[in-house]
Order: sequence, then structure tokens, then C-alpha cells
Amino acid sequence: MTVLREDFLAGRGNPVQLQIRHYPDPVLMRPSAPVTEFDPALVRFVEDMFETMYIEEGVGLAAPQVGVNKRIFVVNCAFEEKGAEAEIALINPVIVEARDEQTGKEGCLSFPQIFADVTRANVIRIKYQDVKGNWHEAVGEGLLARAFQHELDHLDGKVFVDYLRPEQLQEIRPQIDELKREFKRNPQAVR
Ligand code: NI
Repeated sequence: MTVLREDFLAGRGNPVQLQIRHYPDPVLMRPSAPVTEFDPALVRFVEDMFETMYIEEGVGLAAPQVGVNKRIFVVNCAFEEKGAEAEIALINPVIVEARDEQTGKEGCLSFPQIFADVTRANVIRIKYQDVKGNWHEAVGEGLLARAFQHELDHLDGKVFVDYLRPEQLQEIRPQIDELKREFKRNPQAVR
């Protein structure tokens, strides 16, 4: 089965597309606070995050990336095969086990068009609360494990370029400098 993004989005009711913050927006570098209110506003916010992630064609999105410093992220690493069935919203997530290793290309919606190899754990066991506050545990391997680690980092004010070696940073330097110039030109811009 292949899920068509346009058809899928059209059938989703009326969530709102949120503004993605780009590096070096300081909201991306701040640690986020735990969620304590499991109310309808949280449910709506999570729906808007999924909507935004699907429109932007990402596999994960963390709350700071839409300007909200709360411990929330959403992932869907199998959208094309499974649609909404593969989506998970993780509130107050905690990694309880990390093992094995993978190295692969990583990108981030807050760093458009920038990709670099990052080494991560290959298997991640993570516990989290759902939008009602109930605790769950999930195990991710490969891409899903990578997404869990990348998105959880966002909640601690960490971004994937923090992991790059000097020679890797050198390679993406022009694009990083362009993002910095763009942010300086117009920090309030809708991006
Ligand atoms: Ni990211």
C-alpha cells in the first residue's frame, strides 16, 4: 500500500500548519520543560505537529522546532506504507535502553537541505506518555531509533550538527552561514 500525502492530508480534518523555526533560532537551543497538563489543547497541538511534519515531509518533529519549549515530539517513519497507523506522539519521553550502533545520513527540518553522517545507537527502548498522560514503552530500530534520539535531543536543546566532526562542519559551513545570515536579516520571518 502506498499512502498519497495529498489524499491523506485532505482527509485529516482541520489541523493547522505550524511555522518551522530554523537554526540559529534560540528556541532550538533551549532545554524544554516537562508537560504537566494533558488537556484538549495538548491534543490539538499534537495534531498540528503531525500536520506540519507531513506537509514538510519529515519523519519526526519536536515541539521546539515550532517554537514551543515543551517535552513533546512526534514521529512517523513508515508514512508511505502505513499512513497514520505508524504515527507516535511522545510526551515526556525517556530513553531506557540504547544499544548497538548505526551510521547514516541525518537531516533536520530546522536545517533545510543540510545532511551529514551521524553515528547513533541502532536500537532504542523509550518510555513516554500519550496525550492522556498514560505511560507506554516503544522499541525502535534503525531509522525509528535514529528519529527517537534526534528528536529527544531537540528537547534538551541539542541539534544534530553538534555531533559533527570538524571536517564535516567544514563541509556544511556555507549553508550554516547562510542560515545565520537569513536569521539575522529577518528573525521573525515565517519560514
Ligand atoms: Ni531535527
